[in-house]
Parts: sequence; structure tokens; C-alpha cells
Amino acid sequence: MDALEIFTALGTPEGRANPYQHYAALHELGEVVSLGPGAVAVVGYDAINSVLRDAGYRVSDEAAIEREFPGWRANPVFVHAMDWILNLNAPAHSRIRSLIARAFTARRIAGLEPAIAGMADDLLDGMAERGADGSVVEFMHDFAYLLPVTVICELIGIPEADRESFRPIARDIAGIFELHDPATLPAINAAAVELLAYFTGLAAERRANPRDDLITDLLAVSDSDDGRLTDAELLHNLTLLLVAGFETTTNLLGNGLQVILQQPEAGTALLDGSVPAGAFVEEALRYDSPVQLTSRVGYPTELCGTKVGDGDSVTTMIGAGNRDPRRFADPDKFDPLRRDGAPLSFGGGAHFCIGAALARLEGTVAFPRLLTRFPRIAAAAEPVRRETFLLRGFDELPVTVA
Ligand code: HEM
Repeated sequence: MDALEIFTALGTPEGRANPYQHYAALHELGEVVSLGPGAVAVVGYDAINSVLRDAGYRVSDEAAIEREFPGWRANPVFVHAMDWILNLNAPAHSRIRSLIARAFTARRIAGLEPAIAGMADDLLDGMAERGADGSVVEFMHDFAYLLPVTVICELIGIPEADRESFRPIARDIAGIFELHDPATLPAINAAAVELLAYFTGLAAERRANPRDDLITDLLAVSDSDDGRLTDAELLHNLTLLLVAGFETTTNLLGNGLQVILQQPEAGTALLDGSVPAGAFVEEALRYDSPVQLTSRVGYPTELCGTKVGDGDSVTTMIGAGNRDPRRFADPDKFDPLRRDGAPLSFGGGAHFCIGAALARLEGTVAFPRLLTRFPRIAAAAEPVRRETFLLRGFDELPVTVA
């Protein structure tokens, strides 16, 4: 098969369910494959790393959307998204990212550990109650979705009383990451409007009554920096933290549990301590990456012998890079003790995931607690995959816990 045929196969429901055989076929073609005029896919680990770290490649920003979709400003979600650091290039990217990073400190993240443990235990209590008589418990809804969204609410400083109503809005706006069906756009736009109104109110409240939370810190940074971070930039990037922070982590939890359900020895090793939780999480990130790809806009250059032109679409296939046989020994084997780790799952270079430490912490806290509580956790039915390709995970992962 040539690269285009492989990509066609990847686009089918079967291909989305199991992309790994197709990635293996792509690796045989080389590190970089042409998908026709103006489009390349980067599948090799080293090549992906070099693209993500090369400032010549840019993310698709406001100028690009202006060309492709001049009416974008009528959609509130795009007005948000065009301020997101994910969609900004230097110098705006570095200006805003460094200000956010000042509030998103290692100390603040590490300090969340007891709260994460408490939230995980509460959710496990609920699962234990529902599953005590052998009834099926739905892990994605009852744990994997609720933990990260509650953690990110806690981090930002969203009061507990608001969280219940907040979750569906957060879920709606996350749909922007993989917009399959334009019919979903009105709900995504409505969520963006609602979130902006909510964060505007919360910001006013925190300016009046500062607390020990991320929104208070971000406001302090923006207020003391003489307009270097505008209110719109701040509020829009809060939305980004919310959406980037939970769906991805939800999928880390679901994909990691699926490994345990299919390969119970992985769970046993985690439980008896022969595999440290951090190593399990790292290998789960590599083996079944929650984010399968990201993209860049090309500049005139050559990449592993393939010509890249100005404005070309460059898709970096993170999920494929994580299974590159040139980089990982026996790449299709789940081996948390492998010494050739360092998956690409959080990206690399200027846009490296700002929440990587938080996601790792959530996984490291959650998996041992889950297994200690439910050492006999088992699959109860076929899982249901999300239809998305960029974000890889499950909609339903039914288990028994008793
Ligand atoms: C397992 C969970 C996660 C995965 C797999 C993940 C993956 C990624 C990847 C691949 C990127 C880079 C995208 C690119 O280069 O185009 C990224 C960026 C980002 N992530 Fe994460 N992420 C996760 C969790 C989180 C969390 C918990 C947060 C926030 C609390 C977060 C916030 C962000 C932000 C703000 C960016 C943009 C950084 C920038 O553009 O400078 N992520 N993430």
C-alpha cells in the first residue's frame, strides 16, 4: 500500500479503532511520507521531534484561518481559540505562555496531590457502591471523565457549587478539537459564550477577594504587567486550560485501564510495586497516546529527503512516532520497565504541553488507588470507542469491580 492508501484505511472506523497496524505500514515507507501536493505526514520519532522543535514550522494561526474561513469571527469559539497559546506563534505565543507559566507553577501542581487523591477516593467510593452486587460500572463516566474535570476546576478555582453545571459546558466546547460535524458548532459556540460570561464573573469576584488559586494568580500577573496580558487573552486561555486539561487526561485514564483489562499482568505488577506508577503512566502514554497527532504549517525545507514547501500542511503523527521501531525496541509490547521511554505524547518544543506534570500526577495517583481498591476489576462488555481520531479514547469502558 502507498501512503495515501494507508491514510484512507486509517480514516475508516476499523482504522480508527486500531491504527497501529497502519502506523507499522507507514514506518516501512520512511520517517516522512508525502500525501500529495502540499501535504506531508511525519511518522518517525526523530523527525516528529525535530519538526516540533523547529521554529520554522508554525502553528495554524489567525492569519491562516482568515484565509481559509473569513467568516470565523462570527463564531465565538474561534474568537476564543485564536487567543489560545496552542494557536499562537512567536512573539504572541512566548509572551502569553510565559505569563501563564508563571502562575502554573510546579509548586501549585504538586500541592494538588492530596486533593487529587481525595477526589479519586470519592469517585472510587461511588463505583464501589454501584458495583458492590456485581453490577456493571461504567469507568469512563464514573471515573475517567469526572476526575480530570474536577481537578482542573480545583486548580483554576471554580467553586464546588458551580462544578456540576460546568461539566457539560466544558464537554461541549472540547468538541472544537475535532470538528467532524458542523451541526455541533452552535452548541460549541453557546458553550464558549457561557464560559466567557462565567470566567468574567469569576475574575471580577477574585479581583475583589483574592484566593490561593490559578485564576487569582493569573489576574495578579496580568494586572501587574501593565497590559501585557489582556483580559480577553487571560479569559480565553482559561478556557484552553479547561478543555486541554480534561479530555486528554480522561483518555489517559481510560486507555491505561484498558491495558490492565487486556493484560492483567500489567495491573498485578503495578499493584505489587514491581512497576512504579510513574513508569506505568509513561508507558501507557506511549503505548496508546491520548493525543494521536498535531499539525504545523511548513516552510521551504527538506525533511528526511522529502521536500516541504511554504504553507504545506505538516501532520506530526505522535501516536505513530511512539511506536517507531527505529526508536523503540519491540514497540507494540507494553513494557513499563523499558529503558527507551520518553514518548512524544505531550509534544515537544515551544508548544510542549503545559499540563504534562498535572496529567502525569493524576495518572500516578489514580491507577494505584483504583487497583488497590478493586484488585479484581474486569471488563464487563466490549468497550465503545470515541469516533475521534486526534483524541484517542473510549466513550464507554464497562467494568465489574466486586
Ligand atoms: C494525558 C494528558 C495530556 C496530553 C496527552 C496532552 C497533550 C498535549 C500535546 C500533544 C500538546 C502539544 C500540541 C502541539 O504541539 O500542537 C499539548 C499542549 C497543551 N496542553 Fe496538554 N495534554 C494533556 C494534559 C493537559 C492538561 C492537564 C492541561 C492543563 C491543565 C493541558 C494544557 C495544555 C496547553 C495549555 C497546551 C498548549 C501549550 C502551548 O501551545 O504552548 N494539557 N498537550
